[in-house]
Amino acid sequence: MVNVEHDFHMAEGEGDWSYSKNSRRQEIVIRETKPIILSATIEVYTALLPKTMVIVDLGCSSGPNTLLFISYVIRVIADQCKTSEGDPVELQFFLNDLPGNDFNELFRALEKFKKSNIADQPGHAPPFYYVSGLPESYYNRLFPRQSVHIFHSSYCLHWRSQVPKGIDASRETYLNEDNIYITNTTTPDEVKQFQEQFHNDFSLFLKLRHEELVYGGKMVLVFLGRKDEDVYNGDLNQLFGLVARSLQSLVLKDLVEKEKLESFHLPVYGPSVAEVKEVVMQSKIFNMDQITLFEANWDPFDDSEGCDVHDSTRSSLNVAKCIRSVLKSLIVSYFGEAILDALFVEFRCLVAKHLEEEKTKFAVIATSLKKI
Ligand SMILES: C[S@@+](CC[C@H](N)C(=O)[O-])C[C@H]1O[C@@H](n2cnc3c(N)ncnc32)[C@H](O)[C@@H]1O
Repeated sequence: MVNVEHDFHMAEGEGDWSYSKNSRRQEIVIRETKPIILSATIEVYTALLPKTMVIVDLGCSSGPNTLLFISYVIRVIADQCKTSEGDPVELQFFLNDLPGNDFNELFRALEKFKKSNIADQPGHAPPFYYVSGLPESYYNRLFPRQSVHIFHSSYCLHWRSQVPKGIDASRETYLNEDNIYITNTTTPDEVKQFQEQFHNDFSLFLKLRHEELVYGGKMVLVFLGRKDEDVYNGDLNQLFGLVARSLQSLVLKDLVEKEKLESFHLPVYGPSVAEVKEVVMQSKIFNMDQITLFEANWDPFDDSEGCDVHDSTRSSLNVAKCIRSVLKSLIVSYFGEAILDALFVEFRCLVAKHLEEEKTKFAVIATSLKKI
């Protein structure tokens, strides 16, 4: 059984296969959502004028992306403070992720970040800022009530707190066959389990953050979702379908036991915009200031806009490295390290074939919520 809190983390370190070297897609998404981050930060700062502003990055991981977020906030607050009198505001950042996250790598990168004065701007000094790590699942209370001004989370909230209980059964017959996420053969009942897990997790997340936010505090949440209302028709269905097919081919080669594969499912769900809106509306505790969906090529190094994949061999390698850095910990804890190389060789071949037929894109949902 997959234990998210215990087993899940991005590939550690700074090596070729690490998350920090393979998270360009996530970096670009943070760059694209910069205007939402800036306007939420300015709005909260100018409305509340706190002496200490508490800002939290949920699911920060171990790469440089969280530092990009920090630099945006420091710069925009420095800008706002240019004209203000009295004691300057101080910033307290908390970087949150699951306990298995490579916080050592993150704090080493933070030291370099501080020395590089990356957050400095010509003309005026940045505010003092302090950074702490917070290893715990964000499906728990993390802060005292009404103590946080801004929550940010990028590329995380499609991960569920657990595989839906009814799917992830240590039972005699396994559900969802040898699929690991929703595919064409997943039954409506099984789909419902994934949807309920999303509904319960996201409602809980909203409730917990509402307790922790000050009045007037805001959240900027960015995560993978689905463009189409049809739950069978999302790019995550296709992506994880290819991972499942790679695992199935290892079963045929006797590298993975069939039963083991049948009992493996991903704790993930990509909602549609309507599904996200529904949970927020039902919660009645946040105003949705904005929600948008944009698309991003699977290949993190393909910045082109059209529908053509120019080099499917290269793109498939880029996609495989990115997905391996994300899924490695779950695959290793469930199937063992020995299958990793073989699995991603298979996966890369399938991705190359897939991209020759269709340039699939991630559907990214970005929303800005205000506590009421
Ligand atoms: C793809 S990474 C994104 C990291 C970073 N925000 C970025 O944009 O590069 C997703 C992160 O979410 C974290 N995560 C997933 N579920 C979590 C949970 N319940 N609590 C805290 N972090 C979680 C994972 O450990 C992982 O580091």
